[in-house]
Amino acid sequence: MSLKGMNAVVTGAASGIGRASAVRLAQDGADVAILDINPEGLAETASSVEAAGARCVPVSVDLLDRDSIAAAFATVKTELGLVSILHNNAGGSLRRDLKTFPKADADQWDYMLGLNLRQVADCTRIVVPEMIEARYGRIIITSSEMAFRTNFGMTDYSAAKAGLLGFTRALAREVARHEITVNAICPGAIRTPLSESLPEAHLEKTLSEIPLGRLGEPEEIAHAVSFLASPGASYITGESLLVTGGRTMH
Ligand SMILES: NC(=O)c1ccc[n+]([C@@H]2O[C@H](COP(=O)([O-])OP(=O)(O)OC[C@H]3O[C@@H](n4cnc5c(N)ncnc54)[C@H](O)[C@@H]3O)[C@@H](O)[C@H]2O)c1
Repeated sequence: MSLKGMNAVVTGAASGIGRASAVRLAQDGADVAILDINPEGLAETASSVEAAGARCVPVSVDLLDRDSIAAAFATVKTELGLVSILHNNAGGSLRRDLKTFPKADADQWDYMLGLNLRQVADCTRIVVPEMIEARYGRIIITSSEMAFRTNFGMTDYSAAKAGLLGFTRALAREVARHEITVNAICPGAIRTPLSESLPEAHLEKTLSEIPLGRLGEPEEIAHAVSFLASPGASYITGESLLVTGGRTMH
């Protein structure tokens, strides 16, 4: 379904799932602002978005810094206009080493909750008032199947990604009367630079748990984003969509 005339923001768009989402929303007809801390990656994504025929506004931002977020969204407003689609996608689980919860570094906990939960609320807080005014909005949040299942040494990541589902449902209820929907996508193991750097044994074990027998592609997550971003998904809100090749089901 066409997104012509709509403006989208995708965070964490310098690589992986966010890049695929930005390109897909552009192919669907939206103009796209892409936010990330990595300017080189943003430039590559911008070329692909523009190749799809859309306007692209790349904005360097540290999503852990509220002033930086405010400045980034001010640029989006000036350069692109009002936001109708927000894909809160930035996040990550990378760490130096896996430690059981009592031994986990408290600063790392704060970092993981900041990156995977708090900044999503910070970005969303900025666009909701303009969506309310427009009486239209699509908010899509990248959570993870780790909101439902667990990996050793990643209590912080699971807590943050599960927290996103609570946020999704609570916000969906609040803003529904303004024709704004809020949904989460929970990817499973997706082929990104991170998955390619995993040890062979870890990858084999993961693949053995996936009924479809392969990693997902970032474009397969982008397809789900495109659906939830579309006007036709108007009666779906507060939902969390697992895209895991069957590894996690509910
Ligand atoms: N790849 C997977 O298998 C998988 C599975 C489940 C969920 N996810 C989630 O999908 C989302 C995208 O992950 P991905 O696999 O594409 O990873 P990725 O590392 O390719 O993309 C994450 C992006 O976030 C950006 N980023 C990190 N910290 C930032 C900050 N402080 N400010 C601004 N930008 C910042 C990075 O520069 C990067 O471009 C994340 O939320 C991740 O938790 C990924």
